[in-house]
Amino acid sequence: MKTGYWLATLLMAVSVGAAWAEPSSKVAWTPEQLAALKRGDAAKGKAIAETCAACHANGGQFPYLDGQLAPYLYKQLQDYKDGSRDNPVMTGLVAGLSAEDMAHVAAHYSQQALPPAPKTEPASEAAEVLVEMGDSRRILPPCAACHEASGKGQKIDVPAIAGQNAAYLEQTLLDYKSGARHNDLYGRMHSITQQLNEDEIRQLARYYAGLRR
Ligand code: HEC
Ligand code: HEC
Repeated sequence: MKTGYWLATLLMAVSVGAAWAEPSSKVAWTPEQLAALKRGDAAKGKAIAETCAACHANGGQFPYLDGQLAPYLYKQLQDYKDGSRDNPVMTGLVAGLSAEDMAHVAAHYSQQALPPAPKTEPASEAAEVLVEMGDSRRILPPCAACHEASGKGQKIDVPAIAGQNAAYLEQTLLDYKSGARHNDLYGRMHSITQQLNEDEIRQLARYYAGLRR
């Protein structure tokens, strides 16, 4: 896959867009930041995660956290805390977490096995094409270039989305599109979802929810 080409095109499109002059997240992957993340202690994180299980015990309307990449989890928690990502429930919950706590809980979840994929309706073939090939007529890179063909995500902070619950996937993609979710570095997911219509978003959510990991 010509990831380099797509990334260059996308970054160009984003910088021409210029509407995203404000930094979208205060998390920067400096060596110090990555070292702090490495000090995350999964045992301490497990104790914290007990307070999260009521909602995140993998299923229903909530995103799964088990098996997610630690830097992605850590970034989202920081983003909720400083308001870069808005959600009244999560903002309230992270208020009491220190940066160390976030590294601990991220370490815990990243070491869990991914939960089994839920049963979902099959997605359209058009969704599969978008995932694997993108669409060069719109500046739309294939999702797989970043999220990997298996949907397991990749370093540093591209999240695993395979088997994620469809309702959450659809809502969060709509939120990137409308700008309600605006914590993606360089506005990558915003630029991408702006070019997708709601039906494509629904189909892509189904595709990833049904993807076996
Ligand atoms: C009362 C229910 C509830 C509890 C308890 C809860 N969460 Fe959440 N969490 C949510 C909801 C709802 C979302 C999706 C919010 C959104 O769309 O931004 C979410 C999203 C997240 C995300 C972003 C996931 C992603 O894929 O982007 C992370 C990380 C997270 N929660 C971590 C935690 C941690 C850690 C705890 C425990 C300290 C916790 N949550 C407790 C409801 C909850
Ligand atoms: C240029 C790389 C890139 C491409 C291409 C890409 N993504 Fe993403 N995606 C990301 C990054 C990075 C994030 C995390 C952004 C953040 O911190 O909010 C993300 C986040 C997401 C999320 C949020 C996951 C969660 O747990 O909240 C979904 C869903 C998603 N992408 C779906 C897609 C789909 C569907 C496509 C194809 C149409 C796609 N992505 C293409 C890089 C990419």
